[in-house]
Amino acid sequence: MGPRNVTVVGLQWGDEGKGKIVDALARICRYVVRFCGGANAGHTVTVGEETFAMHLIPCGILTEGVTNVVGNGVVFDPPVALEEIDNLRARGIAIGPENLRISAGAHMVMPWHKQADVLSEQVLADGKKIGTTGRGIGPCYSDKAIRSTAIRVGELLQEDAFRRKVHDVATVKNKIFSALYDAETLDPGKIAEEYVEYGKKLGPMIDNTGAILRKAIASGERILFEGGQGAMLDIDHGTYPFVTSSTVTACGVPTGAGVPPSAIGQVVGIIKAYTSRVGAGPFPTEQDNEIGETLRERGREYGTTTGRPRRCGWFDAFAVRYAADLSGVHELALSLLDVPTGLDEVKLCTGYRVGGAEVERFAPSAMTEAVAIYQSLPGWSADISSCREFDDLPAEAKDYVDALEKAIARPITFISVGPERTQTIVRQTQIEGLE
Ligand code: GDP
Ligand code: IMO
Ligand code: MG
Repeated sequence: MGPRNVTVVGLQWGDEGKGKIVDALARICRYVVRFCGGANAGHTVTVGEETFAMHLIPCGILTEGVTNVVGNGVVFDPPVALEEIDNLRARGIAIGPENLRISAGAHMVMPWHKQADVLSEQVLADGKKIGTTGRGIGPCYSDKAIRSTAIRVGELLQEDAFRRKVHDVATVKNKIFSALYDAETLDPGKIAEEYVEYGKKLGPMIDNTGAILRKAIASGERILFEGGQGAMLDIDHGTYPFVTSSTVTACGVPTGAGVPPSAIGQVVGIIKAYTSRVGAGPFPTEQDNEIGETLRERGREYGTTTGRPRRCGWFDAFAVRYAADLSGVHELALSLLDVPTGLDEVKLCTGYRVGGAEVERFAPSAMTEAVAIYQSLPGWSADISSCREFDDLPAEAKDYVDALEKAIARPITFISVGPERTQTIVRQTQIEGLE
């Protein structure tokens, strides 16, 4: 048996710094696999002076010798992926079938999905809007469930049948768009030709990725599963309906990658030292005030995908404990610990009160009415961005890390103190091979 696989998942509302940790772990893995979401994700990796923002291509693409896989659970958007591939190539990263495979079974985001995403949000009243990324995610996953109007990546390889399918589906979509939204209709012929061209470029990388990964498991090669979004955005276990449309917890790995549940391996939960959320929905620890503003500016909390300012607030340990239990998290990576530097106090939420009574068991549905119960700790002022050992941190920062570990009941084994690859403290991780 080879070394244990690794699963990296976000435990908040996304943007926890998954990209940076995936990049750090990629060098000890043979495969890096996306299993959920689509181009709604924005994963940032900073190497020296260079910053890469990945939407569909796994973050292992920056590491030589890694085969990157876009799994069947991802909704795949060819023009976005091709643009990303072109940009990476222009920056000197070679990309081809040797380091990127796309599942033939992944569902394809089509132009009508993006149109439906934007139109369906527009007609919702304020307070009902989800605040989606407009990337067509929900409509594509709903077609996956409907089946008859869905198109999968593998269908690009059979050009004539693909053209006919696009024509048939576009005709249905056009009827819906004009009846529901009085919207402009789409040109099926033009779309089919555009996508046939994409298919020619992507063809050599389209594959039966589940089979590749199962074979890798049998030969003891190590796989890293790269989560998208965060637990509170999970379709089943998040703050529904203010969620995304896929299973983003570690529970999504087996179906989204085509591997057995036993392949999940060591689960690393990523948390940021505070909380951020883009889009609508409950957020009990939100600080719609100077503190939130400070966190947003220091953490440069503007969406990687949409550029929207992120809502910011204190760390919600009550919610994260739930998320960690749900994904079977073994260890935690704490990111952006440098951002709260300079605050007089740092707070973490340890529970909720609803109608004056303390909530016994966490449920995302309690969040709407929840009043956060806080533990307050003294802040620190020294710059921590060059700390590389836990003991280099100021006592107050160490106390905050200890308090987080206690509240979440897991060890924090990675501490990130800046966006750059090397700005990380590693301690007592159970992941073999990192020395
Ligand atoms: P992801 O979606 O979970 O991969 O996270 P994003 O890339 O959307 O957002 C995280 C942001 O924080 C990116 O801009 C990263 O470059 C940045 N970042 C990651 N770790 C740190 C850190 O420890 N400190 C600071 N200041 N920035 C970080
Ligand atoms: P990464 O992988 C943060 C949010 C959107 C919106 C909700 C639904 O970078 O952490 P969707 O377009 O998925 O239908 O939008 O989910 N959302 C994210 N927020 N980070 C992400 O990904 C997100 N992916 C989706 O803002 O609130
Ligand atoms: Mg992101």
